[in-house]
This record gives sequence, structure tokens and C-alpha cells, in this order.
Amino acid sequence: MNAITLLKDDHRTIKQLFRRYRNLGDRAYLQRRRLVAEMREELSRHASIEETVFYPAIRAALPDATDDVLESLEEHHIVKWTLDELEKMDPREERYNAKVTVLMENVKHHIGEEESELFPEVRRGMGRRELDALGVQLKAAKGIAPTRPHPRAPDEPPGNIVATLVAAPLDAAIGRAKQTARRVTRRG
Ligand SMILES: [Fe+2]
Repeated sequence: MNAITLLKDDHRTIKQLFRRYRNLGDRAYLQRRRLVAEMREELSRHASIEETVFYPAIRAALPDATDDVLESLEEHHIVKWTLDELEKMDPREERYNAKVTVLMENVKHHIGEEESELFPEVRRGMGRRELDALGVQLKAAKGIAPTRPHPRAPDEPPGNIVATLVAAPLDAAIGRAKQTARRVTRRG
């Protein structure tokens, strides 16, 4: 699997979630919360594999792309804070929808820049074999990536690799605990 194809597939999945969110009715609070949880998982995983595998590989192979990578890291940073804030909010809160809208706008801007500037640069600078090998690594990283945003965690190697190894199993455990809590509340 080519690295760019894999990342573009992720982008498509994310944009589909945005479309579904925009089509929800004004009072579909439960669906809003569910879709935002899906966005959080998808975006957290996607940011993590870019930060642990893709960006470091690009910086090593294509020093000219460094500025674009640094900008991408800052864009991820803002997205992670917004996701973190949304997790603590109730969809009935006045600011909720506005925050999701700004999140979607930021992500769309970021995806647009990657697809129109960074990816073509990477395609020009890296061979097909290299991109395939990178794709294999991205896929493997996805399997162990955190499902929560962790905006305070380091986003560059080696710190982010260590943080990922610690965060991913904890995120999975928190996710399971929340599911159980919801089941218990529904029963009670
Ligand atoms: Fe990205």
C-alpha cells in the first residue's frame, strides 16, 4: 500500500464523517456526540501515524519539505486541543456546534494543503518503493495508535514514539470503561 494512497483514504473517511455531521438535525444530540467520538478516534489515529512515521520520514528524505511539515504539526496541535475540549462538552451546550464547525474547517484546510502541496512534493521526491515501504509502516502504526488526541504530548520523535506506546493501551482501556459505564447507566 502506497503511503499517499493510505493517507488520502483516511482523509476521505474523515470528510465522510463531516458530511454526516452536517446532515444531522438540530436536536440530534446523541448522534452528534457519537459522530464527534468517531471523528476523535479517526483524527487521533491519523495525526499519530503522520507524526510518528510520515513526517519524520519526509524530513529525513526531503529537507525542503520541513516548513510544510512544521506547519502541519501546528495545525494538528490546534485540532487536538479542539477535540480535547469537545470531549468534555455536552452537545446541548451553546458553543458545541460552533466548535465542531471550526474543527471541521481547520481539518479541511489541513487536508487541502497536504493534498495540494505536501503530497505532490513527496511524490516527486520519493520513489515508489520507498512510498510502499512507508505505507506498510503507516498501516502498522495505525494498529497501535492512540484513539484520543493528547494535545500536551510530544509530537516529534523520539518523544512521541514513547508517548504513543504508553497512550494507546490506556486510551483503549478508557474507551472500554466508558462503554461499560454507559451500559450500566442505560440499565439503571
Ligand atoms: Fe495531517
